[in-house]
Amino acid sequence: MFCKKFAVQFRYFNNKLSRQLLSSNFVYCPKICNNSPSNSTIFKRWNSNETMLNDNKEDKESKSSKKVLYNWKVVSGVMLVAAGTLGVINYSRKKVLDAQELERKMSLGKARLGGAWELLNTDGKFEGSEQLLGNWVLIYFGFTNCPDICPVEIEKMINVVDDLQKDHQLKIPIVPVFISIDPQRDSTDRVKKYCEEFSPKLRGYTGSIDQVEKVAKTFRVYHSEGPKAAEDDYIVDHTVIMYLIDPDGQFQDYFGQNRSFGDIANAIRSRALKYQASRK
Ligand code: NI
Repeated sequence: MFCKKFAVQFRYFNNKLSRQLLSSNFVYCPKICNNSPSNSTIFKRWNSNETMLNDNKEDKESKSSKKVLYNWKVVSGVMLVAAGTLGVINYSRKKVLDAQELERKMSLGKARLGGAWELLNTDGKFEGSEQLLGNWVLIYFGFTNCPDICPVEIEKMINVVDDLQKDHQLKIPIVPVFISIDPQRDSTDRVKKYCEEFSPKLRGYTGSIDQVEKVAKTFRVYHSEGPKAAEDDYIVDHTVIMYLIDPDGQFQDYFGQNRSFGDIANAIRSRALKYQASRK
């Protein structure tokens, strides 16, 4: 409790504080200030100490409730801003993680699909991915006895290659490859004659059952012999996919049976453009 007179004197020392002291609940006290009016309303209030204390209490309560309200506003505001910031951080973090995941999946897919391989060429010599480096390579797995699908797909592949080689501006070095998944019947001679029927550009490969199996696994090519009408009369059920390998020997893309010749050519063109741009 402060005495109002004291507050007046105190003004000399601290203007701001004394103004506060004089302004509200401070009263003249009889003990310190003998000349204080004992009958004044202020003095009465001093006597009825409780009333004043209650006044003070109410005042304090309203002030503190205002303070609490104000604090809550500030806290909720801060929380909102924090939540927003966290949201933005989480969103961008998720985006980065998604991109990393996609990249990881793509590199995993690339690592799992394709890779180095070697088989017998049509001259009966071992040759494979290493000799084809520096070229874009389109690989198709099939068998020479295939009645319809293989001839259609190989024809499509040759058309794609012809079309891309016509483009003198881009100059895409591209080689079409046929790999037999029926080595029991497809000798090097047979593969040679079969390839010549389509185009002199088409390179054919075969090998032993194990050698062919290894390459088929590298490209995850499914193949299964159907029931045999005779020893060499059967159909091979197989994956109908064209694989695109870049000049570094890396798997780039694959094209299913549903992709048209123009569609495939355009896809390779855009990949070749990207590849060339990345090396300038
Ligand atoms: Ni076929």
